[in-house]
Amino acid sequence: MTKYVKIISSGSYLPKNILTNKELESRVDTSDEWITERTGIKERRVADENETSVDLAYKASLDAIAKSNINKNDIGAIFLATCTPERKFPSSAVLLQNKLNIKNAFSFDINAACTGFVYALDVAKKYIESGQMKYALVVGTEKITSLLDWTDRNTCVLFGDGAGAMIIAASDEPGIISSTIGSDGSYKDLLTVNTDLEYIEMKGSDVFKTAVNTLGKLAKHTLEINSIEQGELDWLVPHQANERIILAIAKKINLSKDKIIITVSKHGNTSAASIPLAFDTANSKNTFKSGDMIMLEAFGAGFTWGSVLMKY
Ligand code: COA
Repeated sequence: MTKYVKIISSGSYLPKNILTNKELESRVDTSDEWITERTGIKERRVADENETSVDLAYKASLDAIAKSNINKNDIGAIFLATCTPERKFPSSAVLLQNKLNIKNAFSFDINAACTGFVYALDVAKKYIESGQMKYALVVGTEKITSLLDWTDRNTCVLFGDGAGAMIIAASDEPGIISSTIGSDGSYKDLLTVNTDLEYIEMKGSDVFKTAVNTLGKLAKHTLEINSIEQGELDWLVPHQANERIILAIAKKINLSKDKIIITVSKHGNTSAASIPLAFDTANSKNTFKSGDMIMLEAFGAGFTWGSVLMKY
């Protein structure tokens, strides 16, 4: 059994096309002012028609692998979180494994909607703890704009495409201190893509309230079960859906805005990609220092939710 599991590198990729709020004004009855005020979003990325979630994942993974200084063939497993897979099967994880030309690994997809990356990290941590492998590649990737009804102003302004990845490894020191995941399928119709329609349908204000409530409780619970005082938390890297949700949660744990990584203004909600993208955006600027206490926290369709507490 391995004692600890640590993130040793992160990587990310954003498609080149930027779609601004101003441009959305010509598509639906909305305004830059409304979107900014209600969500904090200013722009988002949109993948090309022929660019898939696996293509995005591939570029983010190359970035993470390059920064890790490990040999890619030492990776024992690929855990890929997405709700916009390239194909129905084989899994996007297998397609990614093939693109990366990694031979001695097993790979599978995890779908927990916007919580997918935290679920994937939880699973990867447990595999590494079991001693089955030393290194794992954990990816969150979405071409979520492919699920948008571009005539529905309630949803089309909120989402964007992207991918983030991490290499995690067995370690002699902490590490991920705890991870918690949960779900409740009774909320299945509040945020969904019905297979007949293939578009995101959402009851926005119900999702908003439940997200704030659930994530507020989860953040407090995560600190409590690890005996961490609120003042000891250095960084919150939350799911980037709405800046108002993020700030409401921070208020519940008395965390000031300068300790929160907020990228929603530039990325929109990239679903399973949002946390690793936000993490890598900060990590690339050397924001996190060795020993910093960091909490990741996510909420998504299902509903699903999860948190990870770690020492960087
Ligand atoms: N531009 C202009 N007006 C819009 C709009 C847009 N893009 N989208 C919705 N509106 C309108 C609504 O139609 C409604 O009009 P009405 O009162 O005439 O019916 C009005 O704005 C208020 O809508 P409401 O839903 O109450 O606004 P809100 O303050 O709750 O903000 C969201 C809407 C979607 C931004 C917010 O509910 C939200 O962020 N929810 C959570 C979404 C989320 O995080 N989803 C992913 C979870 S992983």
